[in-house]
Amino acid sequence: MTQAAIQVRDLCFQWPTGASVLQFCSLDVPKGEFWMLLGTNGSGKSTLLRLLAGLLQPQSGEIKISGQVGFVFQNPDHQLVMPTVGADVAFGLVEEKLSLAQIQARVHEALTAVNLQLLQRRPIYALSGGQKQRIAIAGAIARQCEILLLDEPTALLDPDTQLDLVAQVRNLVKSRGLTALWVTHRFDELNYCDGAFLLEQGRVVDRGAPEHLKQRLMQ
Ligand SMILES: Nc1ncnc2c1ncn2[C@@H]1O[C@H](COP(=O)(O)OP(=O)(O)O)[C@@H](O)[C@H]1O
Ligand SMILES: [Mg+2]
Repeated sequence: MTQAAIQVRDLCFQWPTGASVLQFCSLDVPKGEFWMLLGTNGSGKSTLLRLLAGLLQPQSGEIKISGQVGFVFQNPDHQLVMPTVGADVAFGLVEEKLSLAQIQARVHEALTAVNLQLLQRRPIYALSGGQKQRIAIAGAIARQCEILLLDEPTALLDPDTQLDLVAQVRNLVKSRGLTALWVTHRFDELNYCDGAFLLEQGRVVDRGAPEHLKQRLMQ
């Protein structure tokens, strides 16, 4: 059995308003694998990702994550904060005590990983939606994140760019030994994952290979 990079046990979460979102939710993502999280609108996918990232605290249950977490949001305009590509990727490194040369090396390596090394000086406003998502991913790679949490990162992309992004994340997971959990409701993205979870009414009701989930959902 492969070691789990993300382990969730009996997670329960409700908003202060009293609405219960997660009820004894459990899942494991094996290290080095690319898993997806499916579920209807409002089923708690974004809430679960925020709990995994430590942005929210559960009422009960357990989360074990082995490695630094990088988060990629649906809308990159909420994530990219600096005026240029290079500055944005470097911005995530401010809390690490690195020399200028070390920062430059990390930024270059991360941009190369997402094939955007030629865009280092480009203003963020001059990027396409898909390029912006790759910059957000480069930011996580520069911080040496081993775990990527991606919340519907293709929701604002056109279909070609959408599949380019999912293929690139799969390549990064496999070439760098990362672990990724990707929220989607687009069936064509399922072909790229190692497995997927189906979230319903606050718990994981099914999990397995992409074909298994597709069969279940297309019935
Ligand atoms: N900040 C919030 N305060 C109160 N309720 C919220 C908040 N954010 C989301 N919710 C509610 O939590 C439930 C799960 O939302 P969410 O995790 O965003 O679902 P999904 O990402 O699967 O669409 C929904 O009923 C939603 O209305
Ligand atoms: Mg959501």
